[in-house]
Amino acid sequence: MAILEKLEKASLREIMQVAFREHILVPAFNVAYLPMVAGIVEVLRECQTFALLEVSRPDITRFGAESFRAVKEEYDRFGDPKLTRLHQDHVPVIDEEGAMVDWRALIEEALQLGYHSVMIDGSRLSFAENVRVTKEVGEKAHKLGVCVEAELGAVLGHEAGPLPPYEELFASGKGFTSPEEAAQFVRETGVDWLSIAVGNIHGAISGVAKDAKKVEARLNIEHLQKIQSLTGIPLVLHGGSGIKKQYVLEAIRNGITKINVGTEIRQAYEQGWRESGTVLGAQKVLRQRLRELIQDYYGIQGSALRLAEKL
Ligand code: 13P
Repeated sequence: MAILEKLEKASLREIMQVAFREHILVPAFNVAYLPMVAGIVEVLRECQTFALLEVSRPDITRFGAESFRAVKEEYDRFGDPKLTRLHQDHVPVIDEEGAMVDWRALIEEALQLGYHSVMIDGSRLSFAENVRVTKEVGEKAHKLGVCVEAELGAVLGHEAGPLPPYEELFASGKGFTSPEEAAQFVRETGVDWLSIAVGNIHGAISGVAKDAKKVEARLNIEHLQKIQSLTGIPLVLHGGSGIKKQYVLEAIRNGITKINVGTEIRQAYEQGWRESGTVLGAQKVLRQRLRELIQDYYGIQGSALRLAEKL
């Protein structure tokens, strides 16, 4: 469709600004296994939906994404510039096991490979240190036209070992992003999008929990509204799998522009693999789950056309 050529020509920054203004959700699907790229893009074409494909360190080290280069190569084969962009998810300064990470090298690798956006995750650092690393990444990435996402607050769930009971976490608001700090963070870093904690948690990536159904999270929408009113940039919801639908839809009306979805599409792919023992069988179950998400859950069928019209 000719109008989609506008999306092909637009920068990711422009697309995300339109999505933010118009409250059009841009999902970011984690690639935990390389053949997921082709499966995801096929469904995006069918549904005329714009989305990011993203890959994080755990997708590479714990599952089958192999490397940032391998995902880029797969993306180059199957990605569609009218409907997709490629994002480097979670480059932590301190990882989920408390180990220091050579984050500069990983970000540099994605910039060299031509990723369209990167995420520096300094959320386990002090506020001042988080500002410092995010600013440093921004200065480098922006020169290349690459968008930067950062995180403020604690989106738990990737750590090994049991989480405190979810309802306790939610009621206490422990780890929630402070709206005032978020405003200061955005001003001082020049970050493009901010990942926040308002009740969302990541699906597990280790032990038996990684195969279990994720807890159905809720979101504190009032808290989100405060963050949104003080920041004025696209906000990102990590831990997208399994959040109750009514909360997700309300969050989209209140500043959430990007939602990261990992666990449930990985589990769909793995289920298909177990049942069929073939990549085609795994992709089939993945595609089915994606259609449900895009059409019934987020209601973003045709989002690419709506974005293109507003560009
Ligand atoms: P889920 O695995 O809970 O969907 O979270 C994905 C995510 O936030 C990746 O950054």
